[in-house]
Amino acid sequence: MKISVCAKGGSGKSTIVALLANEARNRGRRVLVVDSDESNSGLYRMLGFDKPPVPLMELVGGKTSLKQKMGSPDIFAGKEIHLEDIPSLYLVEHDGTMMVSIGKIMQSLEGCACPMGVLNREFLKKVSVTNGEMVIIDMEAGVEHFGRGVETSVDYVLIVVEPPFESVEIAGKIYDLAHGSGIKNTWAVLNKIPNEEIASRTRSELEKKGIKVIGSISVDPEVFLASIEGRFPKQGTAMNQIKQVMDSILSETGQKSLQ
Ligand SMILES: Nc1ncnc2c1ncn2[C@@H]1O[C@H](COP(=O)(O)OP(=O)(O)OP(=O)(O)O)[C@@H](O)[C@H]1O
Ligand SMILES: [Mg+2]
Repeated sequence: MKISVCAKGGSGKSTIVALLANEARNRGRRVLVVDSDESNSGLYRMLGFDKPPVPLMELVGGKTSLKQKMGSPDIFAGKEIHLEDIPSLYLVEHDGTMMVSIGKIMQSLEGCACPMGVLNREFLKKVSVTNGEMVIIDMEAGVEHFGRGVETSVDYVLIVVEPPFESVEIAGKIYDLAHGSGIKNTWAVLNKIPNEEIASRTRSELEKKGIKVIGSISVDPEVFLASIEGRFPKQGTAMNQIKQVMDSILSETGQKSLQ
């Protein structure tokens, strides 16, 4: 299963990705996290790695080389990519959790991030997972990746939604764009929820847009504290609540065997 985690900036995409990856690993499953955010670079720390992987952009010869191939972007020469085929330089791995990074903007005037979007889409299309393995994509903020067709290569979209109007509005846009990309299922998870009343009102705004809410994560001081060091939260409500989100994903996708 390939699941893309999308949302407005700052709503908690990377946090939810790290929590889900940890939960899947706790259930004994292999997970590949794809860092598709060309700006932020701290996801590897949240996942417990001491260094980031070399970006896949280097594997395909860098942005300049990729730009020349973008017209006919069979970047990986028609081959399926199995997780064990990814060269170790481009993959960090620990205890069943793996991570790759698409690429980062490193220099001023280096050009736009379109090549990252193309590489992301083509990598996700070619990466082959067995039943029970999960690919979780930490998507860049906003909706530009839909314009680049990245979601045509994933099975499911999970939208992280905070209570404010703008977050809910972007969720509606993501939902429509995901539908237009042919995604089978798109759900929302509420995040940074302070109390039940706000959860219920946010849920109802999403349901008006036809979006199914599959879980809710509270404002968790441990998550925020952990973020100061860029590390994974050691315990707390978010870690417990993500179990129910994972249960819902597995039940929605008919993969109960992942329990
Ligand atoms: N449930 C939560 N409780 C408390 N703090 C949270 C929670 N979820 C996320 N945060 C905090 O909110 C901030 C933004 O979270 P995060 O980096 O995961 O968002 P993001 O959507 O990935 O952001 P970006 O768009 O910049 O990639 C971080 O400081 C994080 O610790
Ligand atoms: Mg992030």
